Formats: sequence, C-alpha cells, structure tokens
Amino acid sequence: MKIVIRSTAGQAMSLTARIMEHALRRDPAMTLGLATGRTMDGVYADLVQAHRQRGLDFSRCQTFNLDEYVGVPPSSGRSYRAYMDTHLFSQVNIARSATHVPDGMAPDLAAHCGEYEHSLHASGGVDLQLLGLGRNGHIGFNEPFSAFTSRTRVVTLDPATRDQNRDMFGGDPDHVPYHAITMGVGTILDAHRIVVLVTGTAKAAALADMIEGPLTASTSATALQMHANCLVIADETAAAALSRRPFIDHMMRHDAELKALVS
Ligand code: GLP
Repeated sequence: MKIVIRSTAGQAMSLTARIMEHALRRDPAMTLGLATGRTMDGVYADLVQAHRQRGLDFSRCQTFNLDEYVGVPPSSGRSYRAYMDTHLFSQVNIARSATHVPDGMAPDLAAHCGEYEHSLHASGGVDLQLLGLGRNGHIGFNEPFSAFTSRTRVVTLDPATRDQNRDMFGGDPDHVPYHAITMGVGTILDAHRIVVLVTGTAKAAALADMIEGPLTASTSATALQMHANCLVIADETAAAALSRRPFIDHMMRHDAELKALVS
C-alpha cells in the first residue's frame, strides 16, 4: 500500500482524477472499475472537464461499477446507475453498452451477480479500480464479515451504512434499501491496480483501520493491505487518526514512484 496525503479534499480529488486521466490516456481501451458516493463527485467533475477541455477519450474504455441497491430501478434518481449517468456517462463520449452497473431489479439476482462476474472476466478484468471507503470500513457494499474471497453477490446492508446513505433517500434511513448487490472483496482484489480516495473527518477511524489495523473481515477495507498495487489518497482530516504518520510523510518525500505520481 502506498499513501499520499493532500491538504484538502479538493486536492485529493484532483490528484485521483489526474491519475485516472493519465491511466486512460496511456491505455484508452482499459477497463475502469468505478465507485459512487459523495467523495467521487469532484473526481467525475474533473474527468468531465478533462474530456471537454483536453479531449480525454472514453470511447474505447469499459466501466464496471462496484455496487447498486436492490429494488431501486436504474431509472430512479436514487440508483447508482443514475448517479453514474448524471456525474459521468452522460457527459463524456462513452456508449451505454460499455458501462456496467449491477441491476438491482434483476428478476434473478443470484444469476445476475454471476453474469456480472462473467462479463467482468470477459472484459479482461479491471485495470484500475477506484474505491471510496464507508464509515464502517466497507469497500463497495462489503459489510462487516464479508469474506476476503467473496464475489459479486447480494448483501444485507449494515444499519450504519443505511444511516450514512440516508440523504439519497430523503434523509430517512428507513427509506434506504435493506439489500444491495456488490462486487465481492475477492472481485475487488482481482483489479490490477486500485486507487482509494478517502476524505473527511467522518472517515478518519475507518482509514486508520484500513491502513494500520489488523486484517479482519469485520472491516473489509483491511483486505486492501494484501493488494500489491494499491494507492490510498487521503486529505488531512481523514488522515488525522493515523499513528504512523511520520513514516507516511517520509515515504511521500523519498518514494520515487509516489513523488512522480504527485508531481
Ligand atoms: C457507499 C458506497 C461505497 C462508497 C461509500 C462512501 O455506501 N457503497 O462504494 O465508497 O459508501 O460514500 P461517500 O463517498 O458518500 O462517503
């Protein structure tokens, strides 16, 4: 795991977008793994700007999103499909057929999850996976006790997650679905490269667990410690609970790869 800390959330988002832009320019036919959530708003806004102002081309890439609520139709403004259409897909030159988001209305959810894994595999796998972090330490919707080997499946959402995401459902956690489809921890770990963006005080404890805590299925993000090419980009407020901060600062100064990334 490599870690970069930026002063502000805006700087952390811009750096994330810049890394994605760079990857897409190097390999325009790549497969991107995408995430939703408020943390990602600025990343997608920057990518849209890169498309409009610098001609960043999305026409040859494919995307696979991490997750979707069960029982929320793609046409609903509350779906993650709608989030992606609004923030990115409708604003860049990508064909709808190249964008994949699990369908929370699929008549046979288990079969749909299997098909999602199959298409992911058929695309050659995710080259670069973008991740956010839940306050309970989840990645995707891999709630506590998710096996590190888990694949795309239906999960029961943690009440803490339903509360965290209540704003999308009129502010009432009772209106947030009880279930979601998510890529598994094992599916996520199969990505060739992972970039995790974490900002804000509310994520400080989860970030410290993810980076420094012992591996535990109770916090699915700790599985990222086992990934050989995982970059964490955090802002100062999210980084506030890290106990190994002096070493992280030292790495930022002396790790050539990190220095090249942020320069
Ligand atoms: C949601 C999503 C995650 C996302 C996380 C953070 O529940 N399932 O993929 O990374 O929680 O969301 P936010 O950026 O809104 O804090």
